[in-house]
Amino acid sequence: MSRTLAAWDKAKHENRKMAMITAYDVTAARLAEAAGLDGLLIGDSLGMVFAGDPDTLRVSLEQMEYHTAIVAKAVTKPLVMADLPFGSFEDSPAQAFSACARLLKAGAQIVKLEGGATMVETVAFLSRRAIPVCAHIGLTPQHVHQIGGFKRQGKTPEAAAQLLEDAQALADAGARMLLMEAVPFELASQITAKLSIPTIGIGAGPGADAQVLVLHDVLGLTPGNAPSFAKTYLDGAGLITTALANYVQEVREGAFPA
Ligand code: KIV
Repeated sequence: MSRTLAAWDKAKHENRKMAMITAYDVTAARLAEAAGLDGLLIGDSLGMVFAGDPDTLRVSLEQMEYHTAIVAKAVTKPLVMADLPFGSFEDSPAQAFSACARLLKAGAQIVKLEGGATMVETVAFLSRRAIPVCAHIGLTPQHVHQIGGFKRQGKTPEAAAQLLEDAQALADAGARMLLMEAVPFELASQITAKLSIPTIGIGAGPGADAQVLVLHDVLGLTPGNAPSFAKTYLDGAGLITTALANYVQEVREGAFPA
């Protein structure tokens, strides 16, 4: 049972790795729970994976609320984390609080927001108001245009030092977790060792306290589109296409319904 933030803190303390995966719907949420996932992330990656957009920028707070409510009511064991979508929190800490309140009312137990040093004030404001926050640093997809693509971050010593500084500042501001995306493995390990809050890695090597991946990448449902750091455990696209083709064939031949 990894439902609580305390369970995640304890796992870090005991040096036990936690596994998280994205979920946007009830089927995925239930399967992930049955498989023993410790956390489910209703990520704004749903804009790309679920809706087919080129980036995550078009996802609305209403859409995040909708998917969060579906996932949260489907499971009892994993921790439920939801993303604050682009445009819902950057204006002011008060704007962020309203958006967080909506996601928590929908069933999220912790909200994730993208940004480093610029978000420290917001994280402090939220944590003083009992909103558990996971800060997301490194490759922050909501900043894709400024970054110039979905590129690895922290590659120069200066950039790595900035990420380390940001991580500490966010933790000091009250962040309950830190997600590091596409950062050097050594840096992720260094940040994990330095912080007392759990870290979650994606494309950040084995040193983080937990790992997260996008479900569709893990199941092989995004052939050709999965990031290089994702691991595919199933040829989902192949299996599903074959099953559907068998159905089509049986209908056309009159073999189904029998
Ligand atoms: O939106 C998302 O699914 C994410 C993960 C890729 C970390 O932020």
